[in-house]
Amino acid sequence: MKSIRIWGGRPLGGTVSIQGSKNATLPIMAAAVLHKGITVLHNCPKIADVLFMEKILTHLGAKVCWKGNSLHLDCSSLKCTNIPDKYACQMRCSIILLGALLGRFGKGAIAPPGGCVIGKRPVDLHVSMLEAFGARIEEKGGVLKAYAPELKGGEFCFPKQSVGATEHAMIAAALAKGVAHLKNCAREPEIIWLAEFLNGMGASVEGAQTGEITIRGVNALHDSEFYTPPDRIVAGTYLCAAAITRGKIVIENPPVKELPAFLGVYGKMGGQYDMVGGKLVADGSKAYGPVSRLETEVFPGFSTDLQSPVMAVLSLAHGKSHIRENIFEDRFRVAEDLIRMGARIRINGKDAYIDGTKKLYGCPVTAQELRGGAALILAGLAAQGQTRIDNFHLVERGYERIQEDIRRLGGNASVEEE
Ligand code: UD1
Repeated sequence: MKSIRIWGGRPLGGTVSIQGSKNATLPIMAAAVLHKGITVLHNCPKIADVLFMEKILTHLGAKVCWKGNSLHLDCSSLKCTNIPDKYACQMRCSIILLGALLGRFGKGAIAPPGGCVIGKRPVDLHVSMLEAFGARIEEKGGVLKAYAPELKGGEFCFPKQSVGATEHAMIAAALAKGVAHLKNCAREPEIIWLAEFLNGMGASVEGAQTGEITIRGVNALHDSEFYTPPDRIVAGTYLCAAAITRGKIVIENPPVKELPAFLGVYGKMGGQYDMVGGKLVADGSKAYGPVSRLETEVFPGFSTDLQSPVMAVLSLAHGKSHIRENIFEDRFRVAEDLIRMGARIRINGKDAYIDGTKKLYGCPVTAQELRGGAALILAGLAAQGQTRIDNFHLVERGYERIQEDIRRLGGNASVEEE
């Protein structure tokens, strides 16, 4: 088991560069399956989820290699269309591969997708979208088998906004016959990045920013290269690290346009920030204000992925805060460990009530999922004494060597493996 040990109490300071985005990379890797040729992703984060997606693509027959942080995917000789349990169960995003396999081969099968334990996370929207495009889907013992000699365009209105299902639809429709109109689509930045990537490989996707997306099916795609944008959730996490330690950091490549709601909350907490020569200069030395009400929402609202990191910061605020989690029903798991460290948090269904305390105390805690694990690291950075966070592999799903960034910013963190 891997753990990260943090010695807390030092304000972070210095300059940091943000890794490529996990949530942009994963669907783009799935989309690469559509093309019988080569895709190169630059600035690709070397995180566990990306390495896992790489394993799945290799299982399907892709040739994959890394040159630094550039990921070269050669999907010319893909043959397998079946994603077995040992791959699917690890990562929820793997469901998106079903549409890519359907687009390329007219068939695909996937065992039940897994992922972070943050709620029920059904796949009904994915299934009904594929059916609307002409796929026949059978479920046996949880395994989804899909067939569509030819996917067809048409209209599909998502009954609920879903990032993954919108991405899945864009991928499935790229090579379909005719025009697909998608309504009530997610508008998260990753949707726009995926559209840019698909268009860069010869697809025709319009409206990715608007919630209504039109995809004109094309006959073939071509080789392409893509530069992965910085990860907005990692940027938000590092801004929280500055806030919770009352430090000051500079982010070299800030995705500010992707963090509108978060920066609003940062300001409410008393954090200050400014853009100077394209860099984000953040001062968290007064970021101890409580936030009377914060709700997670679809973009451009406050991201559910930054809810736990902000909860850690608010646990040291001077006053009472309230967070409502609207996206995933089980995303307050971290509260238990924060309480163990001295936080005063009461959970009631989708609401968390946080009464700021003066001090957190280091102790052994356990990451239960990716963002909760990151929140415990933040708490450890501010806590008195030493914090050991077990299950660090869950943090590595989304953060590329976070311990090195912490050390670069003057914090004290080391990773241990038993
Ligand atoms: C993606 C992100 C994740 C982020 C989430 C919300 C990736 C790899 N992951 O996850 O980090 O927290 O968006 O911004 O990009 N739902 C259904 N039926 C479905 C699909 C989803 O009911 O078929 C529900 C979910 O349970 C959830 C809501 O829709 O309540 C939103 O989920 P969705 O946007 O699909 O999240 P993911 O794409 O899984």
